Amino acid sequence: MGAVSVISLTRTLAGLALGGLVLAGCGSSLDDSGGSGDEGGRADDVKVGLLVPLSGVYAPIGEDIKAGFELYLDEHGGKLGGRQVDVVTADEGEGPQTGVPAAQKLVTKDRVSAVAGVVNSATALGLRDFFDESGKLLLVANAGADDITGARKSEYVWRTSFSNGQVSGALGPTVAEEVEGGVYLIAADYAAGKEMLAGFRKTFEEAGGKVAGEEYTPFGKTQDFQPYLSAIRESGADAVFAFYAGAEAVSFVKQYKQFGLAGKTPLYGTGFLTEGGALAAQGSAADGVKTSLHYSTELDSPRNKEFVAAYEKAEKKPPTVYAVQGYDTAAVLDKALAGADDVSGDALVKALAGVGALDSPRGRWKFDADHNAEQSYYLREVRTSGGTAVNAVVGELD
Ligand code: PHB
Repeated sequence: MGAVSVISLTRTLAGLALGGLVLAGCGSSLDDSGGSGDEGGRADDVKVGLLVPLSGVYAPIGEDIKAGFELYLDEHGGKLGGRQVDVVTADEGEGPQTGVPAAQKLVTKDRVSAVAGVVNSATALGLRDFFDESGKLLLVANAGADDITGARKSEYVWRTSFSNGQVSGALGPTVAEEVEGGVYLIAADYAAGKEMLAGFRKTFEEAGGKVAGEEYTPFGKTQDFQPYLSAIRESGADAVFAFYAGAEAVSFVKQYKQFGLAGKTPLYGTGFLTEGGALAAQGSAADGVKTSLHYSTELDSPRNKEFVAAYEKAEKKPPTVYAVQGYDTAAVLDKALAGADDVSGDALVKALAGVGALDSPRGRWKFDADHNAEQSYYLREVRTSGGTAVNAVVGELD
């Protein structure tokens, strides 16, 4: 299914979901300004929905967001803003077909006060109207869809992660400077892939870069990248810029090496390409890959070192950008709940406007006027240190 049809299906699903919400509203109010909304809940409890992929190609990303969110909760005695938190986890699956009804259930049946999570841009776009019209808070902990904090921004939708154009655009000038000749662009065929390549292309071409070709691979279905790698070779490109994440990132980078392109045609991408479990599975195939991202385990700050140690203790593996986004989402909710008069969507968004800068493992960041994260982006390069591949921080991007 193409990106356009996914989005229109998404709109339909969101419309249906909202219809259900209005009907449900006839018999039982969704106003939970007093607390958990749960019959048996105490007035000072709060119910939060965590919507992340627990299945599909992005399941590893969902696990990391959940682990980061839970680490913050554990470090704060299970409380946010002084309220005991009841987390209801739901599976976003691979996109809006599963993610939209799961969010609808969290709000209408589980009666959560806010939903956090959402990995896939198409899911986030599909949920926008539902949250905007129901007046509930959606805290996006990953999905980078540009419009969510741009043309279609909502009072009730805030993002603790990044926008697609921002993270990919950060790398354009560097690649234009480093590569003589053409760069081939390739990405997963859905909303985020399109925006990642458009964002990169814009700043890359503005800096004088030349595009040698552009290709999209079926999202969630492509296991054999050989035909696409052949096209890259035939194009005569001097470098490649790619957006893949989760399981697709592992296959792409491994096959890039097996096909003989690694070491000859430099590979660039957004940092999701070589993040966490993906990098561990790629091993030496990822050596030298350069990426842009707002986090690396290698960031040399006391706040990050402390976070990495706590996360490794809890999870027995290093954290990822997704874990940091989950952790920061809980931190933002903590501050918002502490400053809000009650747990209604209106009180929470009012409090969110005043949370100020966050001292995060990624560095200090704050919400901009469009509810998106204003933060630094780093240039990272995969290097092997003591037998383990890591994303060394080699610079800061504008
Ligand atoms: C997205 O769909 O917005 C998305 C998914 C996974 C990533 C980054 C962006 O790693």
